[in-house]
Amino acid sequence: MASQGYRVAVVGATGQVGTLMLELLRERRFPAAEIVPFASQRSVGRELDGGLVVRGLSEDSIQGFDLALFSAGGSTSGAWAPRFADAGAIVIDNSSRWRMQDDVPLVVSEVNPDALEAHNGIIANPNCSTMQMVVALKPLYDEAGIERLVISTYQAVSGTGRGAVEELLDQSHALLHERDIEQPGAYAHQIAFNALPHAGSFAPGDDHTDEERKLINETRKILADPGIAVSATCVRVPVVTGHSEAVNVQTRRELSPARARELLEAAPGVTVLDDPASALYPLAIDATGKDDVFVGRIRRDPGHERALDLWIVADNLRKGAATNAVQIAEVLHERGLVHARDAAASV
Ligand SMILES: NC(=O)c1ccc[n+]([C@@H]2O[C@H](COP(=O)([O-])OP(=O)(O)OC[C@H]3O[C@@H](n4cnc5c(N)ncnc54)[C@H](OP(=O)(O)O)[C@@H]3O)[C@@H](O)[C@H]2O)c1
Repeated sequence: MASQGYRVAVVGATGQVGTLMLELLRERRFPAAEIVPFASQRSVGRELDGGLVVRGLSEDSIQGFDLALFSAGGSTSGAWAPRFADAGAIVIDNSSRWRMQDDVPLVVSEVNPDALEAHNGIIANPNCSTMQMVVALKPLYDEAGIERLVISTYQAVSGTGRGAVEELLDQSHALLHERDIEQPGAYAHQIAFNALPHAGSFAPGDDHTDEERKLINETRKILADPGIAVSATCVRVPVVTGHSEAVNVQTRRELSPARARELLEAAPGVTVLDDPASALYPLAIDATGKDDVFVGRIRRDPGHERALDLWIVADNLRKGAATNAVQIAEVLHERGLVHARDAAASV
């Protein structure tokens, strides 16, 4: 690190996740000497809150960075993350482009930070639904193992990008004023006042969406346990921010709801809200703007002596994306890993 701090690029800085990453780098006092925002050619020259001016991606403009935090979609990542890495930066990428590649660590800061040690210049931030779930599952996994998960998600539209938020609000406004809605663009159907069993997209010949496949594959990679059976249904609901998940967890060894509650109460990054008789359980609107993962409705599955049911909620833009990316940068800094590659190369 230069004496004053790192040079940090934020690619996708005008988007929902990028805007939050910029805010979090400042709020959490990440030791950055300079932060440079990048976005598409449409935004070049735009001044952001705080006075930073957006730059465009070019071979010249990407030189000299220590870290590059990406949230600009898979194709931008595919094209530019390796170039930033070749130019000496460590890339932390929010897209799904690199997540399942063997030499790319897929890291949740509270769950598997040690995986960072093996990075080769690109580190992947998991999918938002997987991220919040594994934060809650990790303490249960360590205590009792996990045999099978049955997951139903209730995912907010901000997970699709800014355009989807506008579409939900426009449709809601039109319908409340008894006007016809425009042809849906973000989703196959109207999202306002509806629930779509179609979060993500269906690849040809696959009866699961890519979002469901991510939950299956990323959970196994992060917990380093390919034997976990996962069944997932991802549903898009008309919520702006905050993904909710009903998760049935079948453990390998006996685990009581009381012990699970105790473990979750002690877990980093988790807040337990669990007093259903007083209507206390996690809600998307309460999780919005917070960095923790909230867990409630912790109970025995009456249908299985080794299964528990949980309700897990988090802000998909914060812990589901921006917060974890910045936490990864913090761990890299704390462990002296930012320039470890340069040091190894110069030996
Ligand atoms: N939203 C979530 O909950 C969530 C969670 C986890 C991961 N992610 C991932 O994070 C990424 C961004 O999501 P988001 O919700 O922030 O999307 P968004 O609000 O639509 O923002 C997209 C950003 O990417 C930039 N961009 C688009 N094309 C580009 C290009 N060719 N070159 C450079 N920059 C380009 C945009 O710049 P302009 O403003 O100039 O168009 C904008 O800054 C996606 O990969 C998404 O899958 C999102």
